[in-house]
Amino acid sequence: MNTKVVKIGQENIDQQLIEEAGAIIRAGGLVAFPTETVYGLGGDGLNRESSGKIYAAKGRPSDNPLIIHIADLSALPKIVRKIPVAAQKLAERFWPGPLTMIFEKADCVPYATTGGLETVAVRMPSNKIARALIEAAGGYIAAPSANLSGKPSPTEARYVIEDMDGRIDMIIDGGAADIGLESTIIDLTGETPVILRPGYITEEMLHNTIGSVETDKTILNGNSSQAPKAPGMKYRHYAPKGSLTIVEGQAETVTKYINEKIKRCAEDGSRTGVIATDETKESYFADCVKSVGSRQDEDAIAKHLFRILREFDDEDIQVIFAESFDDHGVGCAIMNRLLKAAGHQVIRL
Ligand code: TXA
Ligand code: MG
Repeated sequence: MNTKVVKIGQENIDQQLIEEAGAIIRAGGLVAFPTETVYGLGGDGLNRESSGKIYAAKGRPSDNPLIIHIADLSALPKIVRKIPVAAQKLAERFWPGPLTMIFEKADCVPYATTGGLETVAVRMPSNKIARALIEAAGGYIAAPSANLSGKPSPTEARYVIEDMDGRIDMIIDGGAADIGLESTIIDLTGETPVILRPGYITEEMLHNTIGSVETDKTILNGNSSQAPKAPGMKYRHYAPKGSLTIVEGQAETVTKYINEKIKRCAEDGSRTGVIATDETKESYFADCVKSVGSRQDEDAIAKHLFRILREFDDEDIQVIFAESFDDHGVGCAIMNRLLKAAGHQVIRL
């Protein structure tokens, strides 16, 4: 398949290209597009065959449900059985934005989209290109992150091209994603709302809007015997080709430990890399040292993490060490993704 790549600016949207992309989706095809979190791989969420194509293009297990993206709150009642009061409040506060809510699904939502579940995940993105595309496509775009299954979610179009060229109809390049981590997912189908995936909208922000919320215990715990409630959270994810180990401890001890390990790896002939911060990047001797940003700036760390994980692949780094981050606020999402990328390999000093 020939994949058409087009550039669209958020501030000056080319409506003709958007209509072309919308027509592809309405006809059952696939278009990758930017959102404020990461790039999505979009198909018609109410068309069983489109969802099937999404799984095939990603190489994704078909029990892993897709998120339906809407552009307007008026589109919600058609695809869900009921809208709990908490969902109404969260929608008013955080939509459009990086929050996904789980509802009981209406009959028109195919099981192919929900991975066989009776529930459906819904999000209203804020990115203007995404919103225009959803409208042009008929209102309901099912979209997982636009990466091949197992790879870090793409935060720039060049990574979508790397993974999806030849597999889908069109890729819309709308520049780098603002947030860089996927949306927070909250399940509103039980008695107490439960966070299934941490993201930019933090537990505290949710708590301040709807009161009591729980967090799925498996989010930061690699040894949990429980299965995570979001099916996708159980899969190996975000992993770079090299082996990644997180090193936790006091800054100086961490630097010293990592440098000793790097020296030994270099003696064995392995290429080494470090995920460092602006504060520490000068202290490492690895072949490839990358700063995710300043420790003081969690937003920058969130924004750069996935890109940096991919860059180590480009440079054929075999052994990677990462500093650890505070797991409060947005840090919870950062550590959740980093721990998954590392397969929960952590050295605590
Ligand atoms: O920011 C995002 O959410 C991005 C952009 C493109 O919107 N999308 C995204 O989709 O991250 P994906 O498919 O890569 O991740 C969706 C996650 C998976 O872990 C999936 O298991 C979970 O949402 N999920 C979807 N529907 C669900 C449901 N009904 N119940 C529980 N978990 C669900
Ligand atoms: Mg994904």
